[in-house]
Amino acid sequence: MLITRYEFLSIIALPLGVGFTLQGGVGTATPVAPDPVSARVLDVSFADDVAPILDASCIKCHGGLPDGESILEAGLDLRTYESVMKGSEFGSVVEASNVDDSLIFLMIEEGDMPEEADPLSPDDIETIKTWIAEGAKNN
Ligand code: HEC
Repeated sequence: MLITRYEFLSIIALPLGVGFTLQGGVGTATPVAPDPVSARVLDVSFADDVAPILDASCIKCHGGLPDGESILEAGLDLRTYESVMKGSEFGSVVEASNVDDSLIFLMIEEGDMPEEADPLSPDDIETIKTWIAEGAKNN
């Protein structure tokens, strides 16, 4: 069978074309490495990130224990989103989007809370701070 000049070029060009296409495809598909800081900042969840910190360090004095004993220091219950947002007998402890007016943040940052225990870790403080800054959502 006679191969025409056109067919001959196609046979050579096709693999080259595919090669270029693949290369281009791979190039554009390469994911941009996520910035770890902004990834963390945009990802704070009350249920997944904040509540476990409160459960571990706060609810024994602000809520209760699994055995049913209930202690609400300052009338503040830190067991649920609703009760955290309700605040203490003196008023709210979280001002959404306003970290500096949020007593809960000011007290953990100063190390005043948890009382009678080591301060929270810088990561935990940052998590709560970011959650408030992002609007203290029930997320
Ligand atoms: C050992 C008990 C204890 C633990 C643990 C504890 N607290 Fe408290 N908390 C208290 C007492 C007592 C008060 C009231 C006296 C005061 O304000 O210092 C209080 C008051 C507060 C207030 C002020 C409420 C108001 O309106 O005046 C906030 C906010 C608070 N706690 C947050 C926390 C957070 C957040 C944690 C966990 C990181 C925590 N507490 C852990 C005992 C505790």
